[in-house]
Amino acid sequence: MRPTCGDPMHPISNFAARDIEALLHPTTNLLAHRSAGPLVLERAEGIYVFDGAGKRYIEGLAGLWCTGLGYGNAEIVETAREQMSRLSFAHLFGGRSHEPAIELAEKIKALSPVPTSKVFFTNSGSEANDTQIRIAWYYNNARGQPKRKKIIARHRAYHGTTVATASLSGLAVFHADFDLPMARVLHTDCPHYWKDGQDGESEEAYASRLAMSLEELIEREGPDTIAAFIAEPVMGAGGVLIPPATYFEKVQAVLARHDIAFIADEVICGFARTGNWWGSQTFGIQPSTITMAKAITSAYVPMGALTVPENVYEALVEASGRHGVFAHGFTYSGHPLACAVALKTIEIYERIKIVEHVRRVAPIFALRLKALADHPLVGDARCVGLLGALELVKDKRAKQSFEPKLGVGAKPPALPRRRACCAARSAATTSRCARP
Ligand SMILES: Cc1ncc(COP(=O)(O)O)c(C=O)c1O
Repeated sequence: MRPTCGDPMHPISNFAARDIEALLHPTTNLLAHRSAGPLVLERAEGIYVFDGAGKRYIEGLAGLWCTGLGYGNAEIVETAREQMSRLSFAHLFGGRSHEPAIELAEKIKALSPVPTSKVFFTNSGSEANDTQIRIAWYYNNARGQPKRKKIIARHRAYHGTTVATASLSGLAVFHADFDLPMARVLHTDCPHYWKDGQDGESEEAYASRLAMSLEELIEREGPDTIAAFIAEPVMGAGGVLIPPATYFEKVQAVLARHDIAFIADEVICGFARTGNWWGSQTFGIQPSTITMAKAITSAYVPMGALTVPENVYEALVEASGRHGVFAHGFTYSGHPLACAVALKTIEIYERIKIVEHVRRVAPIFALRLKALADHPLVGDARCVGLLGALELVKDKRAKQSFEPKLGVGAKPPALPRRRACCAARSAATTSRCARP
């Protein structure tokens, strides 16, 4: 039997010390990590992950909202093995191509909730949103509107961590000391009705107020300087913020008045998470383009993608002809392994009727989550499909949050046995929701 990392006889048993010595962790409190150390996982199966000591955990966040099919799917493993044996790498630069990329592009076009001319592949959600910005700028130059470059995102949004996408993200911690956000990125209100709705204000009135605030921002900046608005149908890392009634309808009316493109960031909401293939369908959004990643491969391998509408594609064709090349892409754009795994993942989603499955189990998820709403530490329990959160509060009536530096989500207070169990579950959900 293979020794585990918890086995003192194992030559590499001290993973915690070695981790602290060698690894720079993404999105981690590096100071706290030096004393707390890592949680080292060794294997996974279905919805469970196991640490080196063999302790089993439910992976309640589906990795980072990405392991849609769970762990250890033998069909996907076999597909990956076959693809790596047949064609382990081929790039798409300079017009080269391969069958898995072509087939996957066709499949995404067919699934896309918006008219799509072409599909562009990346390795992550960040790269895909970064590409959205590059294409928006290139397109506006190509169509003779070179002033139209600003992108509007929302406070508390999360769109990635490259220089451009961390700028889009509306979470202060991704900007502080990184000298971000960069120029040409603006932020408008985040829709958090439970927290920010005024006394007596209906969801619809709150949505109108936010739409008006967006329009004021556009008019202040100059409508002809704004290229696009980007939004997650449900804000994930910002706290699972579900849009209030009529919010997207009103926002889209504002954008349409000013000829501003809508980029829907479906990185979390895509592939059935909200009970439809796309969050845009759940919330009546008709975007110009969508970004996807994560569940596209059920996280078996990294991949992201975005759709390109016909009018934008035509402009790119014309401009690339002038410049000699559409000079954008990644070595691993459309990696054959990622494409083959994505195709198999989508085939399985269709076979198991994942949308119907989410709709069937979501009411149970909602029931159990909402049962925690009357806990003294829970301000709000909210969910849509299989995306949910408990908002922990210091003062329930005043809806007052804990100071983030207290790390309440990660460390539940000591309470009597039954209560402690409740708080632990809510803390786990909320603290994890605070991460991308
Ligand atoms: C909505 C959204 N967009 C973009 C990203 C960035 O994706 P990645 O981490 O693959 O770069 C994330 C990651 O969590 C996300 O939640």
